[in-house]
Amino acid sequence: MSSDGRYKALKGMQDILPPDIYIWQKVENAAREIFSSYGFKEIRPPVVESTDIFVRSIGENTDIVEKEMYTFNDKAERSITLRPEGTASVVRCYVENHLYNLPSPQKYYYSGPMFRYERPQSGRFRQFYQIGVESFGSPHPAMDADIISMLRHFLLRLGLKEVKFQVNSIGCERCRPDYKESLLAFFSDRLGNLCPDCRRRYGINPLRILDCKVERCIEMRADAPRITDSLCHDCRTHFDRLLSLLGILKVEYIVNPDMVRGLDYYTRTTFEVTSESLGSQNAVAAGGRYDRLVKEFGGPETPAIGFAVGMERIVELLKKSVRHEYPAPNLFIANIGDPAGKKSILIADELRNKGLWIELGDNETSLKSQMRRADKLSAEYVFIIGDDEINSGKLKWKRLSDSTNGEISLSEISSFFINK
Ligand code: HAM
Repeated sequence: MSSDGRYKALKGMQDILPPDIYIWQKVENAAREIFSSYGFKEIRPPVVESTDIFVRSIGENTDIVEKEMYTFNDKAERSITLRPEGTASVVRCYVENHLYNLPSPQKYYYSGPMFRYERPQSGRFRQFYQIGVESFGSPHPAMDADIISMLRHFLLRLGLKEVKFQVNSIGCERCRPDYKESLLAFFSDRLGNLCPDCRRRYGINPLRILDCKVERCIEMRADAPRITDSLCHDCRTHFDRLLSLLGILKVEYIVNPDMVRGLDYYTRTTFEVTSESLGSQNAVAAGGRYDRLVKEFGGPETPAIGFAVGMERIVELLKKSVRHEYPAPNLFIANIGDPAGKKSILIADELRNKGLWIELGDNETSLKSQMRRADKLSAEYVFIIGDDEINSGKLKWKRLSDSTNGEISLSEISSFFINK
């Protein structure tokens, strides 16, 4: 009998269960390994922060801040927010803990749930997980290249080859105002043809018109001025050096001058990794430079760059493209009768202490049904113990994958797995 029960997870929030959890762990382990080899250390900032941290950094006129934050008052009437992303928290943490006093660059990674009140759809959730990295202190394009190449290694380690790297530079406070002016001029006599959202964006953040997904806006902006043609000398040099380093590192990329990103803190380099197998929510990772944010948070002038990977989307891609082997018990002990039951518990105890995964059959059920369970669990080996085995001091073992079998003395069990 099955029943749905009385309660359901909230819309856009999901339980992550076995066997999927093994894929999640595989992704987390790969991240830990690869990021550590580039000198990134883990940090764990809180999930809830003061609301202004996000408003100040992500930007008042962004979709996230305008529409998507889980913001409420705590019991002391302070406005707090479930983090919609990690960068703002990490910058707050970097400044608050004076991490800028440590030798530069300081490199950190984090993982955990983020919250955005978006319209849920395939690949888009209200609670989703990110693994992110942030590097503080280096203004050099070599750091941008290092970070992008690290992301590529991480994806390759997971077996994800069919992804596209898009890069862009959105300039700095010196060259962006002029570019904004030229965009405003370009769209001024085309306003009537833009979607209502873009008409609104025109007034507050015209760059966002460049990544609108509405067909007529895409057509309308085909001849719009390109940010990459408006970069100041320093931004241009920075971007050219990055592209040349990506070439040396053999990272395949396309320059997408329309990629402006939905968060306001970016300066210069922005990048995104997409996959065509994912439908409309096709960005699996994204990031960029944010050279002004540490200063805005009250720290010293500190250039910084990072990215975040969307866990659900990576896991979805892995489910589609890579064959997974899920962990299975090393041994299933089928046992019949009371003395065999007691002996089995002792054997299981000893072998589990050696780090092996041991499952015990239910003594009250038939050998046949115990063997069925061993099969279902895909146990590697089965031991069968009954009165005869207790009396003779020997038990039968079987390897389920190829039905190889044999006998082993009860006193030698602890060494059974050593030679396997
Ligand atoms: P973001 O582009 O907002 O950037 O998010 C990064 C990734 O998180 C996306 O590419 C996507 O894979 C995943 N993601 C975002 N929203 C959702 C959602 N509602 N459901 C499922 N997955 C989602 C940031 O968050 C920046 N903090 C990245 C960064 C780090 N920039 C510099 N450092």
